Amino acid sequence: MTEQNLKDILWGKRIFVTGGAGYIGSHVVLALGETGCEVMTFDNLSTGHRHAVLHGDFCRGDLAEREQLLAAIKGFRPDAVIHFAAAIEVGESVANPLKYYRNNTANALNLLEAMGECGVGLMLFSSTAAVYGNPERIPVDESAQLAPINPYGASKMMTERLLADLASADSAFRYTALRYFNVAGADPMVRIGQDYANPTHLITRALKTALGQFPKLEIFGSDYPTADGTCIRDYIHVADLAAAHLAAVAGLLLGRGAEVFNCGYGHGFSVREVVEVAKQVTGIDFPVEMAPRRAGDPAELVADSQRIRSALGWQPQYDSLTEIVRTAWEWEKKLVSRADSVHEQG
Ligand code: UFG
Repeated sequence: MTEQNLKDILWGKRIFVTGGAGYIGSHVVLALGETGCEVMTFDNLSTGHRHAVLHGDFCRGDLAEREQLLAAIKGFRPDAVIHFAAAIEVGESVANPLKYYRNNTANALNLLEAMGECGVGLMLFSSTAAVYGNPERIPVDESAQLAPINPYGASKMMTERLLADLASADSAFRYTALRYFNVAGADPMVRIGQDYANPTHLITRALKTALGQFPKLEIFGSDYPTADGTCIRDYIHVADLAAAHLAAVAGLLLGRGAEVFNCGYGHGFSVREVVEVAKQVTGIDFPVEMAPRRAGDPAELVADSQRIRSALGWQPQYDSLTEIVRTAWEWEKKLVSRADSVHEQG
């Protein structure tokens, strides 16, 4: 799909985005705005920020509040829903599984019921590479067995199943699920980026350590069966992931459905390699310490992303770990200067 084709398909379409104030959601909302979509973000702001929503309307609401959700969907009359809102931390999901089944599975059910009541039949769903667990073959393709090793992955797998069952039962309902690998980086124009109160993701932790916001970066596990003993992940730039969403929602609007796509580049980097790139990009030799394994972490997750490239014509523009870390670093520095100026004004 060319950029012009995408614009022709998406222009004027009404997209309801749950979790649009969050990290990935806000980048997709911005990209939808740039193609001329009408967007309504529905977000409870538990981890997202109102100021991260740079396009369209905003409704502060919770997927657990069915009446509120129904009213928002009825009022907006969307052509399609993109469902980001979720809890996303592997480690936390091991300690607090019910939060994950509530937010990621039960709330998805609420959303599907509300969509059904309002006659909205298209959903693009944020799934995860965590549904694969420890895959037998790397890179892993979409036909691999789903065997999550943490409640986060299991909660998303259950929602994928819900979607598949509903699509089989109801010909008016179509969905696409995108299985994200490790999303990182920030908007190349540095308008938005990741902004969590307690970030746990590797690249963000490394950069905040470089800025002195954490005393050291811990490497969780150096005895994995990988070349350097640390976990390997496929890091994908958030702007490329946003482009994948545009292609996928356009596909749904054109009649596609019941599809699942991996979103990654097809090559992995170890934790140690990421740390090295973070040190090069920042020019800061921040403290790093070995620590025990973190519960729920698979050793290696790398995507076979051939399917999305051929089916939707997705072509990544930022396939470079240095570029991912560089945009994230620009964003982290912007967050610091923003905090400084708020502090000075206050
Ligand atoms: N890590 C560290 N130190 C840290 C943070 C992370 O060593 O301070 C390690 C982790 O143990 C893991 C790797 O860096 O081996 C990546 O960890 P992240 O927390 O950055 O990301 P995850 O792989 O746990 O999870 C992410 C998303 C999930 C998604 C998954 C798919 O949060 O939503 O990638 O690969 F499912």
